[in-house]
Amino acid sequence: MKIYMRLMAAIATLGILAGCGERPPIETKQIGYRGTGMEQNINPRRQEMLKAMNQPGAMEAPADPSGPLAKDIYQNVQVLSDLSVGEFTRVMLSMTEWVAPADQKNCTYCHNGENYADESKYTYQVARSMLKMTRDINTNWKSHVKDTGVTCHTCHRGGPVPSYVWYADPGSGRENAFVGTRAGQNSAITGLGVTTIGHSSLPYDPYSPFLLGDLNIRVEGPTALPTGNRNSTKQAEWTYSLMVHMSNSLGVNCTYCHNTRAWSDWQQSTPQRTVAWHGIRMARGLNNKYLVPLTDVFPANRKGPQGDVAKINCQTCHQGVYKPYFGESMAKAYPELQGVKSAPVDPSAMPVEGAAAAGDAAAAAPAAPAAAAPAAGAPVAKVPAKDVPKATPRSGNTAIAALTPTNVDRGRL
Ligand code: HEC
Ligand code: HEC
Ligand code: HEC
Ligand code: HEC
Repeated sequence: MKIYMRLMAAIATLGILAGCGERPPIETKQIGYRGTGMEQNINPRRQEMLKAMNQPGAMEAPADPSGPLAKDIYQNVQVLSDLSVGEFTRVMLSMTEWVAPADQKNCTYCHNGENYADESKYTYQVARSMLKMTRDINTNWKSHVKDTGVTCHTCHRGGPVPSYVWYADPGSGRENAFVGTRAGQNSAITGLGVTTIGHSSLPYDPYSPFLLGDLNIRVEGPTALPTGNRNSTKQAEWTYSLMVHMSNSLGVNCTYCHNTRAWSDWQQSTPQRTVAWHGIRMARGLNNKYLVPLTDVFPANRKGPQGDVAKINCQTCHQGVYKPYFGESMAKAYPELQGVKSAPVDPSAMPVEGAAAAGDAAAAAPAAPAAAAPAAGAPVAKVPAKDVPKATPRSGNTAIAALTPTNVDRGRL
């Protein structure tokens, strides 16, 4: 009887723990001064799974950059106008591998097989924008992607629709009800029929206001007692929803970026928070500059219930990891996707079209974050400039090392 009771108790305990989602043991890494609560919880088993799911894709052998330019051989080369035929072909082969669906791994996923210059397939048109976008990210958003950069595979991972995209959420239908108003939150399932962010009751579409629009994210007042901060608890819930999305996307706790005694203070935040600040602007920029303008190009079956295109959030690239592929860089092996190469010696052979496109982007993209910084920091005016979080108790590298799966104590798996 006693044994039976113990067994029952054990089963009940297991049941309760299973309800928590992640069973112990969980590793805890201290990432700041002791006593400050700056630590990361890591589940070694989940880490193994993530490692398996975040392997870089197939890469073609480097191509010969010499020889005639693709734009001089082919008829309709508008973006990759600086590449040699060899490099151009390498990109085409890689795009097929990275983006075309498993059952259509061939050039005709984008091309009219009779005429490769034909633009009629929507996939061709989208791919051309995506080429511009990828080069734009690698050239003008180094504040976020550094030299690690991105390729098509960072988002696509071998298929046409990235695993993590978002659509505007139509809500539960009770947004303006007299009683029981849901206001885009307080629901287990969103209007799109998916589970809410972090299974919370927080607003479930923080993407539309923050990663498409530029609604203010900072809500805290600068003083303990109210001195004119008009932000409401409801507004704070929207901020928290975005923050939970960011934590989930990167597989980290809030303390990866914040010292929780002072959420808003840049001086007490980690360098990662500054990178994240640029990431928010980047995701917003990419959605507005590349995805939204493609709305009429995509067929209806690729759009959300509101007729909007699939868009990018933090998870599209990060896929549960603090850096895509745990920081491994595919883009370094692809100078073709880095941006327009320096002009050829012969000025008459200048890649006119490509250069103009990149020039525009260079003028618009990086200037925006810098200029917007002081204004966006309104409630606690601290500019997230690169050197500001210097006073933080740890360096970025310590945290990265701490989270690298090879450092995880495998004995406890
Ligand atoms: C994901 C879509 C996609 C796939 C798959 C793809 N291409 Fe392309 N291809 C494009 C785009 C977009 C352009 C235009 C590039 C530019 O404007 O710089 C292009 C241009 C070309 C051109 C230039 C044609 C001309 O006359 O203008 C050739 C040749 C070409 N691709 C060959 C291939 C081959 C061979 C494959 C298969 C190994 C392939 N492509 C797979 C999207 C694709
Ligand atoms: C930052 C993330 C990101 C990167 C990088 C990226 N894409 Fe995309 N791509 C998307 C999103 C989001 C969509 C919209 C998904 C959909 O089709 O509904 C998309 C859609 C597409 C589609 C249409 C697929 C279909 O069948 O509807 C093609 C083709 C494509 N991308 C090609 C590329 C190529 C080629 C590259 C690299 C040069 C690339 N993408 C890089 C995010 C990305
Ligand atoms: C990857 C880094 C990162 C993570 C993880 C993160 N945050 Fe943030 N947080 C930021 C950034 C960046 C801002 C400022 C955003 C802006 O101004 O655009 C911010 C702003 C905030 C604010 C508003 C501060 C103010 O001045 O009003 C709060 C509150 C907050 N975060 C809470 C959280 C909570 C709670 C979590 C965990 C669920 C979390 N954050 C996780 C980066 C992060
Ligand atoms: C276009 C792809 C892409 C998108 C979208 C993206 N990131 Fe990143 N992010 C990267 C890459 C690549 C790196 C690695 C840079 C490096 O090597 O330091 C990175 C690095 C980071 C880091 C630094 C991690 C560390 O340990 O140093 C943070 C924090 C981060 N991203 C947060 C975010 C947040 C928050 C969002 C959404 C608002 C976001 N990212 C969206 C590609 C992306």
